[in-house]
Amino acid sequence: MAIANQYGYYTEDYREFVITDPRTPRPWFNYMWNSQYAGLISHTGGGFSFLESPRDNRISRMRYNCLPWDRPGRYVMVKDSATGKYWSLSWAPTIDLKYDFYECRHGQGYTKITTEINGIRGEITYFVPTDTNAEVWRVKLTELSGQTRDLEIYSFLELLMGNALNDQINQPNDKHFTDIHFDRELQALVATRRYWVLNKGVSVKQPNIDWKYQIYFSQNLPIAGFDSSLDTFIGRWRSEANPLAVETGVMQNMEITAGDPVVALQSKISLAAHSAVDFAVTLEIAPKEIPPLNKGGKFSSPPLLRGAGGDLSLEIIDRQFAQLRQKWDDHLSCVQVQTPDEAFNAMINVWNQYQAAVTFDMARNSGYYHGGLLFGTGMRDRFQDILGVVMVDPVRVRERLIKALNFQFKDGSTLHNYFVLTNTGERTNHSDTPLWIPFGIVEYLKETGDFSILEEVVPYHDETSGSVYEHLVRALDFAIANTGERGMPRIFTGDWNDTLDHVGAQGKGETTWGAFFLGYVLKKSLPVCEQQGDRAALDRFQKFYEHLRQVTNDVCWDGEWYLRAFRDNGEPIGVSSATQGKIFLNAQSWAVISELAPSDRADKAMASSREYLATPFGMQIVAPSFTEIDDTVGLISRCVPGKKENGAVFNHASSWFVLASILNGDTEFAWDIYRRMMPINSSQATEAKCDRFETEPYVYPEYVTSPDHETQGQASHSWLTGTAVWMLRIGIDYILGFQPTFTGMIIDPKIPSEWTGFTAKRKFRGKTLSLTVTNHSEVKQMTVNGEIVEGKFIDPAKYEGEEIAIAVHL
Ligand code: GLC
Repeated sequence: MAIANQYGYYTEDYREFVITDPRTPRPWFNYMWNSQYAGLISHTGGGFSFLESPRDNRISRMRYNCLPWDRPGRYVMVKDSATGKYWSLSWAPTIDLKYDFYECRHGQGYTKITTEINGIRGEITYFVPTDTNAEVWRVKLTELSGQTRDLEIYSFLELLMGNALNDQINQPNDKHFTDIHFDRELQALVATRRYWVLNKGVSVKQPNIDWKYQIYFSQNLPIAGFDSSLDTFIGRWRSEANPLAVETGVMQNMEITAGDPVVALQSKISLAAHSAVDFAVTLEIAPKEIPPLNKGGKFSSPPLLRGAGGDLSLEIIDRQFAQLRQKWDDHLSCVQVQTPDEAFNAMINVWNQYQAAVTFDMARNSGYYHGGLLFGTGMRDRFQDILGVVMVDPVRVRERLIKALNFQFKDGSTLHNYFVLTNTGERTNHSDTPLWIPFGIVEYLKETGDFSILEEVVPYHDETSGSVYEHLVRALDFAIANTGERGMPRIFTGDWNDTLDHVGAQGKGETTWGAFFLGYVLKKSLPVCEQQGDRAALDRFQKFYEHLRQVTNDVCWDGEWYLRAFRDNGEPIGVSSATQGKIFLNAQSWAVISELAPSDRADKAMASSREYLATPFGMQIVAPSFTEIDDTVGLISRCVPGKKENGAVFNHASSWFVLASILNGDTEFAWDIYRRMMPINSSQATEAKCDRFETEPYVYPEYVTSPDHETQGQASHSWLTGTAVWMLRIGIDYILGFQPTFTGMIIDPKIPSEWTGFTAKRKFRGKTLSLTVTNHSEVKQMTVNGEIVEGKFIDPAKYEGEEIAIAVHL
């Protein structure tokens, strides 16, 4: 049974989301990327590309905050020479035309758009090969009208080449360094820039650095004309929708040494009745020092999209595509489930795993709502985003963790965010940021059992170096050393909630959530200290955990829930006596997750959350939202009520509530909230039709507007959110019940009573755990390979064979 909304549906195997009506409420995106080259691609061919860093090394342009949306893009236009009619194969930018058919299939790492118009079927598949820095637009045109057709084909892409922030603020100067020529032997446009801004901020300094890359833009049809000047290709007072060159059929064959760059190629073909033509448009990029791509010459070794003679090879390109499909088959095979809930299956088997992989590589830094100009990689995001990929690729996760530890200082504190290409970032003093280090390392250890990572020596950002274990301990000690007069963490410029930035800006305010979070991380780190034989740290951390239990329960209990924080002046926020921001969700969820709340208070805190914070779309982060500006709290109170951190259903926080609810024994309500949050559900619910939800129905958005705003149900900031990994891991670890520990796996499913059972496969340390769960069984027991086992724990290493059959009767 297909799951659908009015704009599209999931295929039977959930591997593609098929958009059937291009007039979606927002552009709906996908990603295509490998470890260096990355691009966003919308269902209309929009989006931009970059190499390594979306700020410092942007390849193609995106126009921010512009109308019409989602421009420019990766466009291939076809023109019928006889009639003069022309159209785009991706619908945009020629959106005013009447297409006979439109369909966009977003899959893992590729997007395929099919259109039919003027008797031509166009199929265009965009992807980035797994191991070469390039993008491919693979095209097939089929003649449908039964007549021979003379067609002109125009492929074009507006380039940026370099620093995208500088392009926004200094383009009139920046454009004097572009350089594009047509290589006749190659029949390709070769583009570069003689200048690269790599200074980290907005600055008038003009660094004297070369952009060290060269772009090759090719189309493997005979080339009839080209252009590289945006001005001449598009023409005066025109747009991508009606380029002068396409309208007149005359390319200027312009090679530019200055100006706004476009790579545009024209081909002319004759297509016999009912026949088809296959070709590819490619953008390849290589460092300048590599000998120029020429026939028979070397490009990247081996020239991955090209045959021996140096020409693009469709056979190689199609093999690259098959390799990409295989990569995702392998990735997704790590977890496969069959439950009675289709939306859950679609998310866990495909889209949630996929979204988590996207966040692992894009951080919060390259999306339609995350323009890639500001933030780089967030430290706290980095150490959470590993949760999705560590099951699949622990080697890359290990590398990432170690690299990120370079941004920790000797005293245990960290930069808040960093940029990989410039090795810089900002120190903001968010109180929780360093604590995500131990959080992430513990998760890595639980998945892999690879304690050798702890011995690895990593430099601190300021001076000296220390083992990974030392980095972990220093983060915890830094947090302990930065507690305030009550003995709870000082909040400084914010904790996980960035918008509580004035609660403790003077250094005195303290955070309850931060206390629970510190408690949680301390507790989770204890076995690591034990394994290292570090008695002193073990004692210190154990004592501090108990101290946090004492203090939070002495000073943070408001009667029906835990208050959220104390201001610099000592006044609490998140209390029942307040007129706004009375109850904050995270202080309740983490009281439970940290196991610092006694059970009666845990129950009460959960019940209060349910009473005051539940909405049709998930849990509201705070209620009532702030309606008056309060400078002693911060940005939260300046944000419109019902959106973002000011009272939206902030999905990351809502997911933590789901976890807390399961841990506190209320699986039914946890599942109810989990289900409301799944994007295909929120975008179908009667209260929130897809048109209101707006963002992609296949990935979690950062937030959904709560009933505190008239646009309730409207989502924003899709794709790049910590929600992805948490919903994935709560689904796999707690609902399905695969909980990795340092020594093995606890199997402890917590499923809604309406489920009769489920089956699931989960790869773990070289084995496949094949789980069958039946609900409402008479005898409650677990068997492993047919034998009854006591308890819920198994050590997979003790069993022979690759697959271990586990049956649980609940
Ligand atoms: C955004 C940030 C994340 C922060 C959250 C809450 O999602 O990326 O780091 O914790 O907002 O403010």
